[in-house]
Amino acid sequence: MSQDCTFIIFGATGNLSQIKLMPALYHLDLAGKLTDNMRIVACGRRDWTTEQCVEKVQEWVIEKARGEFDSAVMQRFCARIEYFNGDLDDAAMYGRLALYLKEKQHRNVAFYMAIKPQDFGAVVDQLSAHDLLHEGDGWRRVVIEKPFGFDLESAQVLQAQVARRLEERQVFRIDHYLAKGMVQNVLVFRFANLLMEPLWNRNCIDHVQITHSEQFGIGTRGRYYEGSGALRDMIQSHLLQLLTLIAMESPVSMGAEDLRDEKVKVLRSIRPISESQVDDNAHRAQYSAGEMAGKPVCGYLEEENIPADSTTETYAALKLYVDNWRWRGVPFYLRTGKRLKQTQSMISICFKKPPQQFFQGTHVNADARNWLVLSIQPDACLRLEMTVKEPGLEMHTRTASLDAGFLGDGESATDAYEDLLLDVIQGDQSLFLRWDEVEWAWRVVEPVLRAWSADKSPLDTYKAGSWGAIKSRRLFSDQNSRWRHSIYTAGEQSSD
Ligand code: BG6
Repeated sequence: MSQDCTFIIFGATGNLSQIKLMPALYHLDLAGKLTDNMRIVACGRRDWTTEQCVEKVQEWVIEKARGEFDSAVMQRFCARIEYFNGDLDDAAMYGRLALYLKEKQHRNVAFYMAIKPQDFGAVVDQLSAHDLLHEGDGWRRVVIEKPFGFDLESAQVLQAQVARRLEERQVFRIDHYLAKGMVQNVLVFRFANLLMEPLWNRNCIDHVQITHSEQFGIGTRGRYYEGSGALRDMIQSHLLQLLTLIAMESPVSMGAEDLRDEKVKVLRSIRPISESQVDDNAHRAQYSAGEMAGKPVCGYLEEENIPADSTTETYAALKLYVDNWRWRGVPFYLRTGKRLKQTQSMISICFKKPPQQFFQGTHVNADARNWLVLSIQPDACLRLEMTVKEPGLEMHTRTASLDAGFLGDGESATDAYEDLLLDVIQGDQSLFLRWDEVEWAWRVVEPVLRAWSADKSPLDTYKAGSWGAIKSRRLFSDQNSRWRHSIYTAGEQSSD
């Protein structure tokens, strides 16, 4: 059940608030999920009045609103908003905020950190110093955006700071991938159906590919991205989370702790990559100038705020093994990149070949494999491919597929942030990261991060608009394997 509460958004005038948080809160209001007394306090440095803020929020929401626009809901939603002008670096601001909350008698309060990651720790300290995290007659929760730390050590430092002030049940670490409809469907697909379970292991699965590709470059996020790179930005967080959902055992229950216990077990079972093995198990590259949708685009080194000698990767691929009974010996290939040919996220599961070839001497394609593709976006769908006989007198085969869309006619997906914000209000942490998950995920990528940051030699490059670094194919244990680029290429992998 939704509860009366106050959402305090730090960084409310910024991009995340504009494109995700405010539209998500509006859609929750539209869906009747907010109580009458739910309030939004938009905190920002800009010298806005509440009226100015509301005007902006209306523009943002209209731009993202799905379906028919409801002006009555918009009016109700806007009435929830108050603008609170203040600078996070100014200690007095927290005092004013404490007074304000007291005067208005706000009891259940969620603080949303839509701010620079470097400020997370200091803001938590200030909130605590002004007694804003103390749970007297209501709850206090803190929502922390990614990245949680920059590497293992900085994440541990931040966690120590957070744990000094908050109990784990008060901390909501975001990985918005977990709230995507199709990502939640991975769990439903696995644990609400028996069909695949007998096949879901090293006996039947040859390898798993998890891909997130983007056509976008880094846009105006140069400063952030230059300090991050593809491995930190996508693999340490989102793609490793997808891996845990594919690889985990059935949890004791779907409750937050049980679910996260199983995910942590997967992360702990990932075979550590020693620094001397980094080259065999990881590949990085940077985009050079190329073409996107017929238009020339610049290379990473020419982007705004990027030094000409940058060795930050915009493409990263990783081979991982989960050393447990179910998965021992099955490679998991994770890959992500900016400025690639298409924007999509998918998990492709390649099954082994049948143990014996009965159709020798015929035109049966002995190399065809069964694939199961779970496409997360842009199409949320599932595709299962198998080899069938072509009609006719000859024994020729082709690939047939079973395709299932996630959305029915007239249905539209909710945004991940709608689920997440509602869960914060309801105190459900299952779609949020527990500290040990974050820590183990850092442990997985740490050796690669270290090796890459020590190696200053020029990076491999790929043309913007291509499918990325061709040399990353060397990661495949089986030389006949290829990256699967498309959901729909009927059992074949479109070429680079
Ligand atoms: C963010 C990364 O966490 O996820 C971005 O910082 C990336 O670089 C984004 O573009 C991808 O998310 P989505 O939901 O657009 O697939």
